[in-house]
Amino acid sequence: MCLGIIGKNSNRFTVQFFLFICFIVMATNVVVSMKPQDFRTCAQTSFCRRNRAYADKATSSSFISPYNVVKDTINIENGIISGELINTDNKVSFIFEIHLLINNIARIKINEKYPLKPRYDGAKYWSLIQEPLNTLEYTENPSTGKDGVTSLSFGVDRNHKVIIHHTPFHVELLVNDEPVIIFNNRGFFNFEHLRKKDDPANQPEELTIQSEINAEQEEGLWEETFNGKLDSKPNGPESIGLDISFPGFSHVYGIPEHASTLSLKETRGGDGAYNEPYRLYNLDVFEFDLDSPAALYGSIPFLLAHRKGASTAILWLNAAETWIDIVKSKDDKGFLSFGKSTPTSTHTHWFSESGIIDVFAFLGPTTSDIFKQYGLLTGFTALPQSFAIGYHQCRWNYLNQDDVAEVDEGFDKYDIPYDVIWLDIEHTDDKRYFTWDKVKFSEPEKMQRDIGRKGRNMVVIVDPHVKRDDNYYIYKEAKDLDILTKDKDGKIFEGWCWPGSSVWIDWTNPKAQEWFAKKFAFDQYKGSTEFLFIWNDMNEPSIFSGPEITMPKDLLHYEGWEHRDLHNLFGMTFHAATSQGLINRTSPNHRPFVLSRSFFPGSQRFGAIWTGDIAANWDHLAASSPMLLTIGISGLPFSGADVGGFFGNPEPELLVRWYQTGAFQPFFRAHAHIDTKRREPWLFGEPYTGYIRNAIRQRYILLPFWYTLFQEASTNGMPIIRPMFVVFPDNEETFAMEDQYFVGNSLLVKPITSQGQTTTEIYFAGNDLYYDYYTFKKVQGSGKLKMDILMNKIPVFLRGGSIIPRRQRFRRSSSAMYSDPFTLLVALNKKGEAAGTLYLDDGKTYEYLKGHYIHRNFNFTSGKFISTSFNNEQVQDNENNYIKSNDDVRIERIIVLGVDKSPKKIIGYYNDLIDDKKELKFSLGGINDIKGIVSTSIGIGVEEISKDIIIIRDPKLLISRDWTIEFVN
Ligand code: NOJ
Repeated sequence: MCLGIIGKNSNRFTVQFFLFICFIVMATNVVVSMKPQDFRTCAQTSFCRRNRAYADKATSSSFISPYNVVKDTINIENGIISGELINTDNKVSFIFEIHLLINNIARIKINEKYPLKPRYDGAKYWSLIQEPLNTLEYTENPSTGKDGVTSLSFGVDRNHKVIIHHTPFHVELLVNDEPVIIFNNRGFFNFEHLRKKDDPANQPEELTIQSEINAEQEEGLWEETFNGKLDSKPNGPESIGLDISFPGFSHVYGIPEHASTLSLKETRGGDGAYNEPYRLYNLDVFEFDLDSPAALYGSIPFLLAHRKGASTAILWLNAAETWIDIVKSKDDKGFLSFGKSTPTSTHTHWFSESGIIDVFAFLGPTTSDIFKQYGLLTGFTALPQSFAIGYHQCRWNYLNQDDVAEVDEGFDKYDIPYDVIWLDIEHTDDKRYFTWDKVKFSEPEKMQRDIGRKGRNMVVIVDPHVKRDDNYYIYKEAKDLDILTKDKDGKIFEGWCWPGSSVWIDWTNPKAQEWFAKKFAFDQYKGSTEFLFIWNDMNEPSIFSGPEITMPKDLLHYEGWEHRDLHNLFGMTFHAATSQGLINRTSPNHRPFVLSRSFFPGSQRFGAIWTGDIAANWDHLAASSPMLLTIGISGLPFSGADVGGFFGNPEPELLVRWYQTGAFQPFFRAHAHIDTKRREPWLFGEPYTGYIRNAIRQRYILLPFWYTLFQEASTNGMPIIRPMFVVFPDNEETFAMEDQYFVGNSLLVKPITSQGQTTTEIYFAGNDLYYDYYTFKKVQGSGKLKMDILMNKIPVFLRGGSIIPRRQRFRRSSSAMYSDPFTLLVALNKKGEAAGTLYLDDGKTYEYLKGHYIHRNFNFTSGKFISTSFNNEQVQDNENNYIKSNDDVRIERIIVLGVDKSPKKIIGYYNDLIDDKKELKFSLGGINDIKGIVSTSIGIGVEEISKDIIIIRDPKLLISRDWTIEFVN
């Protein structure tokens, strides 16, 4: 943002002076909004221009894609179909491979046969947990040959089919004989082979096919300038592009990070379409605009297509700058026609600046299958320590250790639970990370231990820029080890960030990974304790002096790869090393907590992310839901948005609404810019402080439910907060809904996102029963219902059929709830049934991987409520350390909603002591009973209470045992 004013020819002193001034301005921050002029548009990006031009050309009726399969080159072996392609215009050859993988995944790879030098293919090392396994389940005798088509059925039931059309080359993937994905259906496939600059025959393909060579497009082939910054492009044009069609799918989702809608918009004409493609290029965008396809901090090139009855998805595994155009059409303009009554299809066009084509296709068929398939490939979200899903209190900055102590005490004084207090960049000695400001934070260990004694933790920031100072050990060691990122001439790259002149460690170098992880050892990171966790910010990376506030693309990384090739995964390499460092520092290992701003496929294995610098206004609050839902369905469920908004001062009503929403988002942290007024919850006075306390307490009551959802995400990839279409995949009305969502499959949440709002419309899908989460009152009716709302809560509904575990005692932090008894909330559906699960472990170590956990399956049917254990093959209950240390944790209350007939008696027994049946005390849900529960548990006044409720008090049953409760009529 500062750099527009610095010309190319400014001398070093002028540059540094201006940068210094800019830096001061940024640090003291005059709040201004995003400056679009700081960031390139497609028209200002030569490979984007070229690929869009190629697409335009290919859309004309006379065009025929020049890429054909070379005769008799197809070979099928061990689940890989390979062959040779030729570009008939310039005679360049390519190798393609289609890998038929286990778990209903297919992979298509295309690279040059004889590249002048290797093209980057390294994203797989960072994003995939292992080289995926090919399936051997495919038809023995594929049809191939004469008619120019090779087809093969694969998958356990052979219900998947791949059809390779030879001339021109395009590939269809079918599920149950219906095409779901087609590559190069529209002929946009364009592979810019590596070439020598002085070879005139070597024009990029779209230029040779155009009758008029557009001078503007030619510009930028061998060097490119933006805002006075030169990209030297030593390899010239090397982009790759491919169109991917989803026949019959009118909704596509994913490709975060954008401040856009959940169901993605068109980008080249159409209703409400954007003019620009969606851009994936990790950038630090100051006060970003909403409803925009512009790039933000992270990139996940994963796109999911859904229609009634089918879901499919792709991962475009490429870490270079990538753009995606989306168009929808009824009349299919591709090679294939889908019959007369063609439904709307979505056609996407992907192009990246460099690298190879490496695309994974997830064939579902359901969304949950896809989430699992993606997780099996890139890893599931790491199960965090349990404190990490509590409430986090952050600001830039808490001033000193007394300030920290006061804020900490404030929470106790005002009876508000919280788990983590955060320190931003000002805690360091002049932005030297891993150090402490000696005056403001003179006793960092004591500070952390004081917090830790209360069962709480601290997070401090460690940014990726390293201050250039020979007396700073991090700089010195990294320089000595030769692990710093180099400029195009091989000299250490220097740029400008918070500390002033800085360098960047090259975390793509394994040596840097190993060295950096060691910096978190307690004896190396002075002043750190086991209560300290880490925040990785600015890792896009943000460089104030760089083009588009990031790294120049011609910088050099490990093994000589250009930054251009791997820009989008760079931030993740820093996140990975930090996370490993926290794991390694304790023995036995504890789970890490590292928040990152930049992300890429695989980041879910290293920690949480947040949506960066949002503004304290209602629109940003509203935008947080589609953003987080999108990130969640793209394999990264542990995400959140700054509660209260980062820039500006939220009015109390907005702040309250934000807390109420944040309490129902996976990562729940309040954060504020250094220039904003203080906003600790008690500063607003009643009734606001009370509302905020209630919101945070709701989070804590539901921590067992949240933790269970995290465990589920860590084993099967299910997002924690779920868009309506994921929960109701056959209900088309839900496909574009983004202003309400589910936590798990049980809680329907409707954030309130405008000022002074007194009513809202909520959509109740299907034939389900719903109960108001606070009053337990049944919702009458279904479909869209208008409801009154109050200031003390946002609408939340329990879906009939759910069983939710809660802990209802108020404590100061999650760890204090460790052995608290449970309340089970049973919401019966119309058939009088409900089901749910509960997962518990020590919340800290990796003992759970050895089987030391509790995992219960709750089932209520035909008046019988049964708790059984999921099979734990690793340890017996009597050897289960978690159960042993928690064997007296009991159920203190069971609340059953929607009981149509009150039972004469209720009996309870352990399943292995069937003769020892006890009659349990219960009461019908009289107003007083419920009021007692609701107001102590949530602190919200209850207006009117439903009465078809049964409350069983102290059933004398332990959470870890198998038991049955029977309603006897
Ligand atoms: C930018 C981050 O997005 C923000 O959260 C943080 O407070 C500042 N950097 C200062 O570290």
